[in-house]
Amino acid sequence: MSEKMFTVCHMLASLDGKIDGAFFGAPETAPSLKAYGELRSFYHCEATLYGTTTMLGGYADGRVSALPAADEQPPEDWVNEKGRLRGNFIVSMDPKGELAFSSHILEKKGRPAAHVIEALTSKASFAYRAYLRRQGVSYLIAGEESLDCALLLRKLHSLFAIDRLMIAGGGVTNWSFLQEGLIDELSLVVAPVADGGTSAVSIFERPSFLPDHGPVPFTLLEAKALEGNGLWLRYRAQKGR
Ligand SMILES: NC(=O)c1ccc[n+]([C@@H]2O[C@H](COP(=O)([O-])OP(=O)(O)OC[C@H]3O[C@@H](n4cnc5c(N)ncnc54)[C@H](OP(=O)(O)O)[C@@H]3O)[C@@H](O)[C@H]2O)c1
Repeated sequence: MSEKMFTVCHMLASLDGKIDGAFFGAPETAPSLKAYGELRSFYHCEATLYGTTTMLGGYADGRVSALPAADEQPPEDWVNEKGRLRGNFIVSMDPKGELAFSSHILEKKGRPAAHVIEALTSKASFAYRAYLRRQGVSYLIAGEESLDCALLLRKLHSLFAIDRLMIAGGGVTNWSFLQEGLIDELSLVVAPVADGGTSAVSIFERPSFLPDHGPVPFTLLEAKALEGNGLWLRYRAQKGR
């Protein structure tokens, strides 16, 4: 995305481009799912970024309930120094400030422990920011109404020295970065299964809060057959459209 940070969108999809749905449970998806997990390390990223829906689906501890008012105005951005020193991060897109965390360290899906960084907008209350500090969760403010993805990347680089970021959805999050020209590479593992569902999201989804940007073209870097009939496709996003 810039000389300063490399971004890759790494996703597993069905043959019909879905990133969620019944196909995940099909036995024929299993080898591709395994490859998807293993290929993460190919990119040597220090941080993985997820959208609010994805965080709620398996990383955060639900939503916060009523919080005590903050005693004082919290700082704009707050870095838990101990967390920063771990050098491995999960970045959570949480514009309104609603996700709950029992710890600032997440150790999920057999992956190394990662410090949580909450990406908030100015809409997140002072009470919520104070809550995050109590939990030891670092946070930064990027944007007023919706998340400003470019500002977020600049802050991740300057406050946490993150040089390589994996953007791992869901679809709304992926499109937010893509439409701003902030994705360098798409790493797509395609499972040899058609889902057929009409409600599951696809790799890229434009939300109503973003203007219609038009299609984004890619250049193929590599296509590799995987064990069990899957495919690994690497594309470079074409910029400047
Ligand atoms: N197959 C895979 O590799 C893979 C990987 C990850 C996730 N997934 C799946 O993807 C699905 C979720 O995808 P999704 O597209 O529905 O959700 P998502 O991208 O996880 O989260 C979307 C939400 O994030 C917030 N958000 C994202 N970008 C924003 C921006 N620029 N400004 C403000 N808010 C922003 C908004 O929250 P608010 O609406 O609260 O403001 C938005 O509704 C889940 O089913 C998950 O299992 C699949």
